[in-house]
Amino acid sequence: MSTTSFVTEDEVGIMLAAAGQAPSMHNTQPWRFEINGSVIDVLLDTDRALPAADLSNRFVRVGLGAAAFNLRVAAAMLGHETTLAIDPDPAVPDVVVRIFLADRRVPVAGLASLYGEVSRRFTYRGPMVDRPMSPRLMQLLIEAATSEHAELRWLDDEQRAGLGPIVRSADDRDVHEEDRLHERLRWIGGDRTAEGVPDSVLGPLPARAGAVRDLSAGVDIPHREHAAFEPTPVIAVLATADDDERAWVRAGMALQRVWLTATSYELAASFLNQALEYPALRDQVRTLIGRDAWPQLIIRLGYPTEGSGLTPRRPWNETLDAWR
Ligand SMILES: Cc1cc2nc3c(=O)[nH]c(=O)nc-3n(C[C@H](O)[C@H](O)[C@H](O)COP(=O)(O)O)c2cc1C
Repeated sequence: MSTTSFVTEDEVGIMLAAAGQAPSMHNTQPWRFEINGSVIDVLLDTDRALPAADLSNRFVRVGLGAAAFNLRVAAAMLGHETTLAIDPDPAVPDVVVRIFLADRRVPVAGLASLYGEVSRRFTYRGPMVDRPMSPRLMQLLIEAATSEHAELRWLDDEQRAGLGPIVRSADDRDVHEEDRLHERLRWIGGDRTAEGVPDSVLGPLPARAGAVRDLSAGVDIPHREHAAFEPTPVIAVLATADDDERAWVRAGMALQRVWLTATSYELAASFLNQALEYPALRDQVRTLIGRDAWPQLIIRLGYPTEGSGLTPRRPWNETLDAWR
């Protein structure tokens, strides 16, 4: 524990617990933290990467960006302004985000107001109710992405129709790729207390393919129900102008600002990212959105028909490597 910094032990607990509640692919929670005085480093935990489904660590970096955003939200609630650097030190490539905290003043408007949503947000894999989202809310979510240097593009009917075969093609491949299946077996299904995705949150199987990703593809999950999903899901693509390692972290920050904002309006979200995990299919999605930006995440949003169990997390102190 540090004796020189203004950051207290309680504050560290609040900030790291918030960071740990971020979404991550297969709930691997691929982050570690180090604190040096008032500087918090978010590090990539290579043991928690997903080399079969995410060889380049693109989705891992999205998760780290989301964790860093949650940390900033908690810091803002505590009154600490934050600035950050992505990949701050080429000599230490595992440090993906460095967050500088300023001494405590008053809660930082904007970011602090999202703190209450950090523990309410969850991935919802069930059907949505038939209730349209207001254009104003859709615009608000666009602005949430823009303020984190990304873009949220809502798909029109034609684009949604075009996405269907791409997603189905990814689903077909998913069940036949043995290394991905092994990876899913490590992280998906069963009872889980600290990491991975338990049976209880997988949601029903869609009566029609393509509405939602079945994370358990190829994994034997007993007693799964079937449900009819909304026939015309509301889908957005989160995209960035560049497609490098920094852009992926930015995409994670944007995802989390969009998702927390959406949560404050009682919206829920799930993903159709399988279409972005195969380069040729991702290229087709890129064509679908106009080729002037790089698709990073495909998000389905709407009002959920029911609640969902929560996905577990490790205790925050297990993610803190050093505090100097
Ligand atoms: C980069 C990224 C990719 C994800 N891809 C998928 C996906 O393809 N399918 C899915 O059902 N969930 C996906 N998720 C959601 C995670 O499974 C979820 O965040 C994790 O299990 C933790 O659960 P929670 O979001 O309810 O807290 C993804 C999350 C992230 C950050």
